[in-house]
Amino acid sequence: MIRLGIAVSGRGSNLKALTSGIRKDSRFDLPLVLADQPCAGLEWAKEQGLKTTLLPYEQGRGPAERELERLWQAEGLQGLLLAGFMRVLSAPFVQAHEGRILNIHPSLLPRFKGAHALDDFWASDESRGGLSVHIVTPELDGGPLLAQESLRREGHDRESYEQTIHELEHRLYWPTAQAFFTR
Ligand code: GRF
Repeated sequence: MIRLGIAVSGRGSNLKALTSGIRKDSRFDLPLVLADQPCAGLEWAKEQGLKTTLLPYEQGRGPAERELERLWQAEGLQGLLLAGFMRVLSAPFVQAHEGRILNIHPSLLPRFKGAHALDDFWASDESRGGLSVHIVTPELDGGPLLAQESLRREGHDRESYEQTIHELEHRLYWPTAQAFFTR
């Protein structure tokens, strides 16, 4: 069994898509959903009967990551999928789990890194945006790319562009993670 954790901070739509993919693949298990703050994603995971943990980020990143490390070992995780997790993991934590943490980002990296990728793309004059799945390294949104899909701005308003990006995310993240962890 390939045991994965998923970390969220918000709505959790990628969490739902990933959970659905994991449940259909008997090689995988989802022993733990993590969050840095109370959020809809965590509530949904609880309703699903998944094991959830609220990491103690209010005490600072050190205590939160120590708890994450403890859980990683206790649950025997092989990997962690960041799904709208709005915290930057420290370099030592990332290095200790090199090549085992993935992230999804709503831009064609390396364009528009950071927390405001959709707004930054929309404010730009670029005609083509997109989304990326990448390996997490200490450089924010800077790790090796595993998959990208582009989306033309033309024909969209800001809202429909964002909605389409999310739909593409839900289709791209799990197959990419699945292939990565079974390679
Ligand atoms: C997604 O757009 C993802 O790319 C970004 O944060 C957003 C999370 O959305 N990292 P959700 O919580 O999965 O709905």
